[in-house]
Amino acid sequence: MQVTEQQPDAAIIDRAAAVLRAGGLVAFPTETVYGLGAHALQAEAVQSIFVAKGRPANNPLIVHVAEQAAAQKLTTAWPLEAEALARRFWPGPLSLVLPKADCVPSVVTAGAGTVAVRVPAHPVARALLETAQFPIAAPSANRSNYISPTCAAHVLKGLQGRIDLLLDGGPTAGGLESTVLDLSVQPPRLLRPGLVTQAEIEAEIGPIERHAVMLSHDQPLASPGLLARHYSPRAILERVAGNGRVRIDELQEQGLSVGWLAFSDEGKHQAADAPRAPGHPELIVMPRDSQAYCAQLYAALHLLDERGVDCIIVELPPDTDEWQAVQDRLRRAERK
Ligand code: TXA
Ligand code: MG
Repeated sequence: MQVTEQQPDAAIIDRAAAVLRAGGLVAFPTETVYGLGAHALQAEAVQSIFVAKGRPANNPLIVHVAEQAAAQKLTTAWPLEAEALARRFWPGPLSLVLPKADCVPSVVTAGAGTVAVRVPAHPVARALLETAQFPIAAPSANRSNYISPTCAAHVLKGLQGRIDLLLDGGPTAGGLESTVLDLSVQPPRLLRPGLVTQAEIEAEIGPIERHAVMLSHDQPLASPGLLARHYSPRAILERVAGNGRVRIDELQEQGLSVGWLAFSDEGKHQAADAPRAPGHPELIVMPRDSQAYCAQLYAALHLLDERGVDCIIVELPPDTDEWQAVQDRLRRAERK
């Protein structure tokens, strides 16, 4: 394991690139969540990502590159929409799905004829890609179906002993996974809402379609990441509109311990240093600003899981464009 600061140390980045070149696995920070990287053009290395995560082979990976030109080499079509979106949002948290070039091993795309590509913005990810000079396939660095890691400790919790190197760049600023947009269909389809919002995309390329979350494994998969029950904490999560007090009392009467993500501590207050009275929920006050909320959501869920609560009650955020990604992740975390 190695540590690097926000301004990456060249010797550490060289070593990480060498591990990847030799077919190893490197976990690294991006501006969204930590990724678990392998050399994208080495099928065997990519295969070991699926093993380390316990990820089903039918769920394709995002390929990270240093710049747009490198993304174009992995694809056989570069429509005007891709050009406009790359110019506006790269480097940044937007993954584009396009027809794949032959050089991309089919294990990366789970056999699909398309590949998801993105240029990440985090200085450590960028330094790694620029030094490596090859594309890096990287899903989020967590065991399959668990919530994504937003700091190095989260990565170790799930993957210690299963990876060769971890680059610790501190907590990630974005906190939720990238937006995934399918440009191989017309109109373009939003496969996963993320930090770049639907309205921001539509401002660049006009109307896009929102793909519905799938409710079962029986339907054909446009994107397995669309499956409900992805991104789940261990505890049972329930979304509650307005004040969740009534539901929390109910759960506690059943003897369950409860975590509570709420927008204010008004009427819920308990001094931080007071001994926890039995029956008090573990309250985490979440930001009212959507970007700040995204940055903190997974850390809050990881924390409540570590504290061993049985249930997590989440006060529903507003139903507006900038909350779409949060709404999506909470909906999936709720399904069991
Ligand atoms: O922010 C992120 O996107 C992070 C960081 C590490 O870049 N990565 C990430 O990867 O969240 P992962 O594997 O956890 O999610 C990738 C998503 C999945 O929903 C997958 O199904 C979808 O992208 N995907 C990848 N390739 C695809 C393709 N060819 N067609 C449709 N969906 C694809
Ligand atoms: Mg993931």
